[in-house]
Amino acid sequence: MAIKLDAANRTGVFPIRRPRRVRGREALRRMVRETTLEISDFVYPAFVCHGRGVRAEIEAMPGVYHLSVDRLAEEAAAVAGDGIPAMLVFGLPEAKDELGSEAYDDEGIVQEAVRAIKDAAPDLIVITDLCLCEYTSHGHCGVIRNGGVDNDATLPLLARTAISQARAGADVIAPSDMMDGRVGAIRQALDEQGFVETPIMAYSAKYASAFYGPFREAADSAPQFGDRRGYQMDPANAREAIEEIALDLAEGADIVMVKPALLYLDVIRQARNRFNQPIAAYNVSGEYSMIKAAAQNGWLNERQAALEALTAIKRAGADIIISYFARDVARWLREG
Ligand code: PBG
Repeated sequence: MAIKLDAANRTGVFPIRRPRRVRGREALRRMVRETTLEISDFVYPAFVCHGRGVRAEIEAMPGVYHLSVDRLAEEAAAVAGDGIPAMLVFGLPEAKDELGSEAYDDEGIVQEAVRAIKDAAPDLIVITDLCLCEYTSHGHCGVIRNGGVDNDATLPLLARTAISQARAGADVIAPSDMMDGRVGAIRQALDEQGFVETPIMAYSAKYASAFYGPFREAADSAPQFGDRRGYQMDPANAREAIEEIALDLAEGADIVMVKPALLYLDVIRQARNRFNQPIAAYNVSGEYSMIKAAAQNGWLNERQAALEALTAIKRAGADIIISYFARDVARWLREG
């Protein structure tokens, strides 16, 4: 028995309302599209190492490289050429020690990298990740006292690192350590040294996530004992993220971040509804590698999967997307 239109029309809506009408052609779909990725949304992360002529692919992150400063400068020029507005720089030190001293060495790897990028691509915004974990022998993000990470003993080292990075020419300082009070400590230190105009992009709601796995290989920053749950957030908590963001804003953060991005879209959305300041979201290494690995196996279409994931991050409310896909996005948007 054929179903009569009347039966489908019990609600009185159909066939008057037909959402498919605007989905029939790409031109129409484009007209009603609510979220569009632009290359200016992106920040491209980079890993800089000592040496010369180094361009070594990171095994767990296909398409991402350890670059020596000379190669990083070339990369920066290419990134600027792609129309990507900013790079986020992570450093691999020559040697690690208890207090992560290369982090705040004016001749440290990140400081050197910032100067080289500024020479090669003066208009590119250079954001420096500020954390001790890549530089400490124990791999934790702060100073160890009595077997634990001592919050207040860490703050002066973070402040010192911020000043050193700003002196090297960093445009934005991005603390990722999750110590309490660090944004305030860094703001005060920057202001005292005359860097009143240098913005802070705070990793405000940074979760203790398994999805940093590939990054820790890339940055050689896995903790040598214990884990980071004593300072990074519990993945089960969302209200606490709002509190963390509110505190960072009160301490002077200019841009706040949710990290990881894809597993925390609800947090991005809640933050967007609640705060008026710019929100960044970090599409982290594990989120990148999952798509890469599936694509390499022929299980996912890389371009479609990546663009869908990144669009979801923007739709959730992120203004700034930090992603290892940024250069691919530039190519995909160019190809149309
Ligand atoms: C440093 C830091 C981490 C990431 C960014 N900054 C790792 C961590 O906290 O263990 C992760 C980035 C990524 O996974 O892509 N604290």
